Amino acid sequence: MQKLIRSALEARKNSYSPYSGYSVGAAILCKDGRIFTGCNIENASYGATMCAERTALFTAVAAGHRDFEAIAIVGGKENEADLPYPCGICRQVLSEFCGRDFKVIVAKSINAFEEHTLGSLLPYSFSL
Ligand code: THU
Repeated sequence: MQKLIRSALEARKNSYSPYSGYSVGAAILCKDGRIFTGCNIENASYGATMCAERTALFTAVAAGHRDFEAIAIVGGKENEADLPYPCGICRQVLSEFCGRDFKVIVAKSINAFEEHTLGSLLPYSFSL
């Protein structure tokens, strides 16, 4: 878990967030041990912004990976203690590929984190 958080912290350095000042990094762990990372990438047309979690997930899927174990998310404004819980869209997108037991780690640092499951964060998820 600490390795995953470290990867997310590293990815956060590439965050492009001039509009919100809220930088996020994410690292998703595949069942085969591979890790893919992502950051949030904002746009002047705000709705075109991409979250860090989806950047990481989509990068992994585009590379041919679909079986996932866990994701670590780090971020937030510098002086705030709030943990970076994933937004509703990211929860839904994760639920396309990840089951209820998929671990979601939200962290401020290597030592300050919480571990949840996707099932607890998104009960009754939508699927077709
Ligand atoms: N953001 C993420 O990267 N992940 C989330 O789950 C919530 C929000 C980003 C999007 C935007 O760049 C900034 O945080 C503020 O909303």
